[in-house]
Amino acid sequence: TASSKRLASSDCSYEVCMKLFCFSGGKRDEELILPINSSLSVTLHQDQLKTTTTVATSRSFQEDRIWLNGKEEDITHPRLQSCLREIRRLARKRRNDGDPSLDLSHKVHICSVNNFPTAAGLASSAAGFACLVYTLARVFAVEGELSGIARQGSGSACRSMYGGFVQWIMGQKDDGKDSIAQQVEPETHWPELRILVLVASAERKPVGSTSGMQTSVQTSCLLKHRAESVVPGRMVEMIEALRRKDFAAFAELTMKDSNQFHATCLDTYPPIFYLNSVSQQVINLVHRYNRHYGETRVTYTFDAGPNAVIFILQQHVPEFVRVVQHFFPPETNGGQFIKGLPVKSASLSEEL
Ligand code: ADP
Ligand code: CO
Repeated sequence: TASSKRLASSDCSYEVCMKLFCFSGGKRDEELILPINSSLSVTLHQDQLKTTTTVATSRSFQEDRIWLNGKEEDITHPRLQSCLREIRRLARKRRNDGDPSLDLSHKVHICSVNNFPTAAGLASSAAGFACLVYTLARVFAVEGELSGIARQGSGSACRSMYGGFVQWIMGQKDDGKDSIAQQVEPETHWPELRILVLVASAERKPVGSTSGMQTSVQTSCLLKHRAESVVPGRMVEMIEALRRKDFAAFAELTMKDSNQFHATCLDTYPPIFYLNSVSQQVINLVHRYNRHYGETRVTYTFDAGPNAVIFILQQHVPEFVRVVQHFFPPETNGGQFIKGLPVKSASLSEEL
């Protein structure tokens, strides 16, 4: 009934550009999710690739429950529990400060749907936890800084709480208080920039991002070198390239960073292969295309999965799409093709 039920629903969408790795040595770090390098991402317009999360709370619910893409998942997952606990803690604080409207003993039912492949390297965990924390906050009437809570669900979710180009500054402190996400440029900054997502495989990745990162941190010395000596300089260059909308500089850094990330996966022991043969063909195609024009018009980045994220300026989209369709006809590769995503804010909507 209306009096005992509160409902909130919101959308969020996200994609990575520069890669990140998280500490996972000790228990405390695993809980706080602190990265070993800073990172950068761009948040996509919510109309296209998105997560939609609905949270209901009711006196009649016996326990907290969650459904992901229509299938019930384990609510006791530590990262889900961290988010629920933190939001309820803030809600309790707010109630003690004089807002008695909410009964905190009520359980929640969470329903979340991704309209793109889950656990396939298209950052479903980031979109999912950003959306979850935002929606829980609406239900429990919690306001203020939520990015730190989203980080405890999935590291990269802390960036996805903001629109546009967002950096996650790794920070130095043990308590993670200075490990924060910050908008670098708003979603209006580079309106000609487009993103194409080429789905090479919609299957769940064999090694999840969290366990993959743990093994890499433990075994890859290339990763250590990258985090200490490569990423700090690249972050500065990348942010400068974005600020001056220098596509070629942005594009080259993005490709090199993606390639080095996958090199650290290969340097992990036992090695992790996120790219497949279609991914490799896409990489070759992009380099051939750029070489043909004698300038960098297209760039790719692959997160922990085989699916390509292509950045390109609007004026080159029609031709590049024709080239992709020529080499990867949809009926033969069995994949899907999603085109023309404008980079805009994931302005989080709500229906209360
Ligand atoms: P991806 O590359 O898609 O981010 P990860 O291995 O990082 O893959 O994370 C996948 C996991 O994230 C899923 O197994 C699930 O636990 C969680 N997840 C994905 N989508 C959602 C969602 N909409 N709501 C809550 N959790 C989600
Ligand atoms: Co993820």
